[in-house]
Amino acid sequence: MDTLPVGPARYDPLADATLADPYPVLAELRAQAPAVWHDGMECWLITRYADCVRVLRDHTLFARDPRRLGSAVPEASLSVQVLDPPHQAPVRSLFMTALHQQDLPALQERTRQHAAFRLVALTAESSWEAMRDLAQPVALASIADLLGVTPPPVAEWAQVSDTIMRSMDGGLNPDLIEPGRRAREQLSEIVASWFTTTGRPTGLLGHVRARATEAGPEHAAYAVHTARVMFQGGYSTLTAAIGNLLDILARHPEVLTVLRERPGLLPRAVDELVRFDGPVQGTTRLAAADVTIGDVAVRRGAKVTVLFAAANRDPDAFTTPDELVLDRSPNRHVGYGWGTHACLGTAMAQRILTALVEALLDTRRGLRPAGPARRRRTATMRTFASLPLSLQP
Ligand code: HEM
Repeated sequence: MDTLPVGPARYDPLADATLADPYPVLAELRAQAPAVWHDGMECWLITRYADCVRVLRDHTLFARDPRRLGSAVPEASLSVQVLDPPHQAPVRSLFMTALHQQDLPALQERTRQHAAFRLVALTAESSWEAMRDLAQPVALASIADLLGVTPPPVAEWAQVSDTIMRSMDGGLNPDLIEPGRRAREQLSEIVASWFTTTGRPTGLLGHVRARATEAGPEHAAYAVHTARVMFQGGYSTLTAAIGNLLDILARHPEVLTVLRERPGLLPRAVDELVRFDGPVQGTTRLAAADVTIGDVAVRRGAKVTVLFAAANRDPDAFTTPDELVLDRSPNRHVGYGWGTHACLGTAMAQRILTALVEALLDTRRGLRPAGPARRRRTATMRTFASLPLSLQP
């Protein structure tokens, strides 16, 4: 079958209107065709829930590892995120086992206390910068706590992480690639120091360090690279998720009111907030063979971009998808991905977001916008550059 000329997509992930509200244009793409070719991004955009799940689930037909299609990958990039089965299995299972060993309820409680401490100080301010004053420090402390490491100073680290995050859009803006490479070097040095330090390692990395070499030196290297993804990817995604969640709570004050009356809703509500406005907009795979998506032919080697944000608002998968339904059930959203590359940090992220909302509920105050918010100009991650908020009696 020949590739269908599906017409030019009008999707510009960095346009002001898309950054402000991506959902209308994603709905148009979803209605247009199962796969829409994007000239600028040189990829097929997949927006329908069922197609997105199929691509994410079928790692045989849709490769994450570019080496399967003959492209080179720098050795340092080979982590759980890039390797496909069967090579991915030992490193993914090493981290999964390490995660299962962690006391996540205790981590949730420490995070609640940390967030509560910050919120007490912020109550005295007429307005504060939610990303700097709450999202970044809470995300960094909780990831470091999970990994069992001493984190770098938050302001310094936030800059390194932001540079790496922006360079994920290097395909759209090549100027971002070199600063991204330098920031990645800084990240590598930080994480390498956690693997070479003497003393009894604790937390998730303690478990990983103790067992990383069991599967051979190649897998030990994959473990270090994966620790980098856990730390930087986990931090940046969690920071973005906290910002998006705070923004919704500030603009929909009735949500905290409902949750005060029905605290049992909290875990489902937190999950629904990730479906409704999650941080990760999409991910890419490569077609490992000629394949059709719906009635669209996709050639072997073509880049396929799964837009989680579009799938999560698909009316064929969710009733009233554009409404925040705090007790939505079932809620099989793809905000944490799906399949062999699904988020390793899901359980931890859910607990940290829950801890944050618990701390907000404890303040007995309302959260409100305190000035115009500004989205960060990034396509892959939906996050804020500035989010002024206030706590009101
Ligand atoms: C609300 C916060 C978070 C969201 C919405 C989120 C979302 C995602 C998504 C959508 C993917 C799949 C990407 C793909 O298919 O290509 C993913 C992968 C991943 N996430 Fe998260 N994430 C979050 C927090 C975290 C945290 C806190 C950690 C670490 C502690 C983490 C670690 C990872 C790792 C290691 C992967 C790669 C897994 C693999 O490829 O096998 N994430 N995440």
